[in-house]
Amino acid sequence: MQNLKELIHTRTNSRVSGTYRRKTEAEIMNELEGNLTGYDCRECRNKGVIYSETESGETVFNRCKCWEKRKSLSRIHTSGLKDLLDRYTFDKFECSEFFQLKVKEKALNFVKDENKRGFFIGGQVGCGKSHICTAIVREFLVEQGKETLYMQWKGDSARLKGIANTESYSCEVEKYKTVPVLYIDDLFKTETGKTPTAADINLAFEIINHRYIGSDLITIISTEKLPGELIDIDEAVASRIIEMCRGYVLPVEYQKGRNYRLKSTAYI
Ligand SMILES: Nc1ncnc2c1ncn2[C@@H]1O[C@H](COP(=O)(O)OP(=O)(O)OP(=O)(O)O)[C@@H](O)[C@H]1O
Ligand SMILES: [Mg+2]
Ligand SMILES: [Zn+2]
Repeated sequence: MQNLKELIHTRTNSRVSGTYRRKTEAEIMNELEGNLTGYDCRECRNKGVIYSETESGETVFNRCKCWEKRKSLSRIHTSGLKDLLDRYTFDKFECSEFFQLKVKEKALNFVKDENKRGFFIGGQVGCGKSHICTAIVREFLVEQGKETLYMQWKGDSARLKGIANTESYSCEVEKYKTVPVLYIDDLFKTETGKTPTAADINLAFEIINHRYIGSDLITIISTEKLPGELIDIDEAVASRIIEMCRGYVLPVEYQKGRNYRLKSTAYI
């Protein structure tokens, strides 16, 4: 930025109705280019604030309208969902089959529900579970500006278990317990064939139980397990999820033809 005093001194007179007047300090400040990145705002010229002059001649500033947009963009960045948000939308979710129609209808109702606590979809591989959950999360994150975290169970649970005996563990796990919107993708997914360990179940319980008790937290869960299979893994975790997601527990039974990834496969 140019030195302000220098600017006031040099860029002085603008012609207003035949007379000359010095630009106000606020006007000069508003003309300066700022250095905020990520979103180009011509109103504040990327300073994030707009200057004005009070009646007593004082220069004051207020946050520019782009501030909320910038906050939202930064939330998307830290949520971990940046790349998926544009691909997995409600608009792009096709409903050529009845189960897809039901899934989409439930998801749209969930977003509008004022008492919502949780959304659960489990079952068939490739049926659009992550797609629909991401579309829901988009509403909260982008449209409503809620702070959101994306937890990919396999990777994030391994990371948390890896630091279980260190000082940073409670601080890290606290984020998942307390964030206003948490999306757990592929809950209890492990290396092929392996059942979740006691450490997996303890971690899931710690996070789910906290969110189950808290009243204003939203939890969205996708998993390859059907509710019955989840109960077999751990009843304490499963029953809390089922109660928290009441009205929005969507089991998608395993059925040939429901894996969207295989749709274009032509058999000869
Ligand atoms: N109804 C749908 N309309 C449009 N695209 C879909 C639909 N269902 C699934 N897809 C697409 O198919 C792919 C697989 O979907 P997705 O990853 O959501 O499935 P999933 O049920 O989460 O699978 P997994 O069990 O492997 O996690 C994605 O590219 C997704 O966009
Ligand atoms: Mg998935
Ligand atoms: Zn601005």
